[in-house]
Amino acid sequence: MASSPFSLTQEREQKLTEILGHYPTKMAACIPMLHLCQDQNGWVSEEIIAFVAERLELPTAHVKGVVTFYTLFNQAPVGKHQVWVCRTLPCALRGSGDVLAQCEKKLGIHAGETTADGKVTLRTAECLASCGTAPMMQVDKEYHEDLTAEKVDQILTRLQA
Ligand code: FES
Repeated sequence: MASSPFSLTQEREQKLTEILGHYPTKMAACIPMLHLCQDQNGWVSEEIIAFVAERLELPTAHVKGVVTFYTLFNQAPVGKHQVWVCRTLPCALRGSGDVLAQCEKKLGIHAGETTADGKVTLRTAECLASCGTAPMMQVDKEYHEDLTAEKVDQILTRLQA
């Protein structure tokens, strides 16, 4: 089988072995394996799709389908930090539109774009399962809840520093 140019670090290879041990089929490990690769590379490139398909013995079209279906997979290079503003109804009713507008203004970009210095990518997300503390956004792996204009300003200032 042709080898793909992407490879995991030794530490992540060990993690992959663990992941594979947790699932009944290789196909079931597709999403966790893609997360593992994205953690290393920042986004899921064609090389990663080929790598995952090869290791899990899946058609590349299947892996590609998974990547395009889940918005948490980046299909292009992204900024150092990623900001996801939840825009589903409970957050929308509590002002996520204002949160997004504030982010766009302060970062000088629209949702879906990355700042020119490569520091921040701004995205919208569907419900992130934290509706009780709406409006909320996710910054990298952290949730920021019960957002106010002040909180958003502080978070973004920190990211831009
Ligand atoms: S609607 Fe925003 S977290 Fe559920």
